[in-house]
Amino acid sequence: MIKQEDILKAYNFRHACKIFDKDKKIPEEEFDFLLESARLSPSSFGMEPWKFLVITNQELKEKLKPNCWNQNQIDSCSHLVVVLAKTAAVQDDNYVNAMFARRGLAEDDTKNYISKFKEYLKDKVMNFVTRYFYKKFTQDRAIYEWCCRQTYIASANMTTTAAMIGIDSCFIEGFIKEDVEKTLELDTSKEEVSLILTFGYRINEPREKYRLEFNKVVTKIS
Ligand SMILES: Cc1cc2nc3c(=O)[nH]c(=O)nc-3n(C[C@H](O)[C@H](O)[C@H](O)COP(=O)(O)O)c2cc1C
Repeated sequence: MIKQEDILKAYNFRHACKIFDKDKKIPEEEFDFLLESARLSPSSFGMEPWKFLVITNQELKEKLKPNCWNQNQIDSCSHLVVVLAKTAAVQDDNYVNAMFARRGLAEDDTKNYISKFKEYLKDKVMNFVTRYFYKKFTQDRAIYEWCCRQTYIASANMTTTAAMIGIDSCFIEGFIKEDVEKTLELDTSKEEVSLILTFGYRINEPREKYRLEFNKVVTKIS
């Protein structure tokens, strides 16, 4: 068992690193370990609606920088991850069937799961969200947001795992989605950019952590 104090240390070590040491590169096997923590993350119905585009090419990082509010993390990081939402796959019968088939359930159970998932995607995600929740959303947008929520879970796991082994990171939501997709020549009918993550090693000490007090964010009902 990992000691609680060691886990807390990692949470305190992680901060939004604003600039990385350009000369320090993360060893590939350590980076793959971070990716493994993303891969093992939970997802709704086990659909794994994510993909991780890992960029170490300096030229490409520099090309992406203006698409990302010119933030210094983009071209100073060792590894940049563009997290993609697999919006088409989750609506594709072949993909969905394969994801359920690997569970090795009886044929009827697999069929039931598949129809339950499809009903969920149509009624809960596409219809419910667009009709009652975010009325301005199109159905495509609702699917994209559903995928994104899950990519954030995998992303959080990656950054915490990084902190546990002494690697700094920063979430990047400050980017122009369409510009990033254009630079990367993505086929947005299949996958769209959800989030960007940057990893490397700090050159500056982080500022003090500010968080609301425990009892301001937690309500216990017993
Ligand atoms: C979804 C998300 C998007 C973020 N986008 C950016 C960003 O574009 N640039 C940046 O410098 N920090 C970004 N941050 C970092 C937050 O500002 C930071 O996590 C927050 O202020 C708390 O500080 P700490 O992470 O150092 O504890 C982002 C964080 C999250 C969770």
